[in-house]
Amino acid sequence: MPQFYVTTPIYYVNDEPHLGHIYTTIAADVLARYQRLCGSDVFFLTGVDEHGLKVQQAAEARGIEPIELADQVVDHYRKLWPQLAITNNDFIRTSEARHKTAVQELWRRLDAAGAIYKDTYEDWYCVPCETYWTETQLKDAGALKELQCPDCGRKIERVKEESFFFRLSAYQERLLEHIRAHPEFIAPVSRRNEALRFVEGGLRDLSVSRTTFSWGIHVPDNPEHVVYVWIDALTNYLTALGFPDGEDMRYWPADVHLIGKDILRFHAVYWPCMLMAAGLPLPKRIFAHGWWTVEGEKMSKSKGNVVRPAELLNEMDADIVRYFLLREVPFGHDGDFSHIALKQRYNTELANDVGNLLNRSLAMLQKYRGGRLGVAGEETAIDRSLLAQVEATQRGVEKAMSQQAFHEALEHINTLVRFGNRYVEENAPWSLAKQGEEARLDTVLYHLVESLRLIAMQLAPFMPDKCARMLTQIMNREVNVDEVNMREHGGWGYLQSGHVCAKPEPVFPRME
Ligand code: MSP
Repeated sequence: MPQFYVTTPIYYVNDEPHLGHIYTTIAADVLARYQRLCGSDVFFLTGVDEHGLKVQQAAEARGIEPIELADQVVDHYRKLWPQLAITNNDFIRTSEARHKTAVQELWRRLDAAGAIYKDTYEDWYCVPCETYWTETQLKDAGALKELQCPDCGRKIERVKEESFFFRLSAYQERLLEHIRAHPEFIAPVSRRNEALRFVEGGLRDLSVSRTTFSWGIHVPDNPEHVVYVWIDALTNYLTALGFPDGEDMRYWPADVHLIGKDILRFHAVYWPCMLMAAGLPLPKRIFAHGWWTVEGEKMSKSKGNVVRPAELLNEMDADIVRYFLLREVPFGHDGDFSHIALKQRYNTELANDVGNLLNRSLAMLQKYRGGRLGVAGEETAIDRSLLAQVEATQRGVEKAMSQQAFHEALEHINTLVRFGNRYVEENAPWSLAKQGEEARLDTVLYHLVESLRLIAMQLAPFMPDKCARMLTQIMNREVNVDEVNMREHGGWGYLQSGHVCAKPEPVFPRME
């Protein structure tokens, strides 16, 4: 059975979940569900990033211990994911014992490979980004005078400490070769170019331990030094598989790390170099998606426009959020979240197109045949076109999903849905019924229902609950989408003549 390992970033516990967090997790879930549908053995990982100065400071500000803050936020995440129909196989917390084992083991391997050395460190540091900046970098970004972080614009601090370093520079050439030889390694292309430019600009060794705070994992046999939070965080992708010798290590290397564009450098530069140093295979792909604005504005706490998932879920089904986020914006681009756009997408593509096709098809089947499918007779040109369209959709979705092009996958499905509605108009089953063309009427109704079944299957990774309801009506029994798979159910002709469908019940009522 083919294996598939997909990950999300692990989210900092100094903030409650918001739109950006659910975006990556939903995307990862859709990939995981799609791969399961296609028969893969899937490992889907998400979790939280608990260590570091930022979390320590956030906890201090509330007068609680870092672990207490983490526990609170973790609780929110754990409750949220099922509400969004997220089917992660594991949820990692970096405060867990298994993670400490993995981080320290990785450290030992880096050390044994001669990739770690001790030196003194003096530089600028941005606490919110957990990022170090050299004077040259600040000067280049025009941020030296104001002492602002070139990434987030917030105030940076001068730090000087003894620290361990990772010989990042030693892996520069190998990394360049790898990126050049594997065009699919970093996506989309704009991000691949960005990573290439960064590496070509020269890699500096990386300070990978801290002595100025304590909330983290200490360097093996060296309790004064805490492992740099990004080394700690990135290792989570191995921890969950039981690194170093757990059975689930068979899922490594990851098929895709989904991340946001702001954390590209850590995943596309630091992480591969660490893995090379440790003698581990590199992930097959790193996909960096864009950022959402909200009603045209940057999302920020101070503006008070942060989109919280709990509020969205009060207003609408999780499936609608899932559909909108992956349909509205090509994955990899920035986009804008707006209630008007969401309602428009829903009403046109789901209520009007999918909902209408389902309702009218099942309603006609009821009206003319009491819900019972007849024998599909001789095929005409338009029937063949419909079948060709079904097959083209399956192929198109497969290709799009292999590239994380969710919006394209949905476009393919929507094209088929529109074709289905045209098929209804052109065949006018109501006229066939009136004229007593019974055999043709049976053929048309069969084609409609069988297409709808396959449409629901293709849409299921995106909208598991809505599609379960569609399939339940079509199959006339409770359908669990997790048990549906392409091999058994993905071919044309699964529905047999004589099968009785249920009466239609609206799955996509119009949004007012
Ligand atoms: N803890 C690190 C990741 C470590 S992974 C080994 C981290 N955490 S985070 O909570 O700050 O951010 C997690 C993700 O949320 C990032 O991928 C980031 O891109 C994403 N987003 C935050 N705001 C976003 C938007 N407005 N839009 C889309 N995604 C955004 O970074």
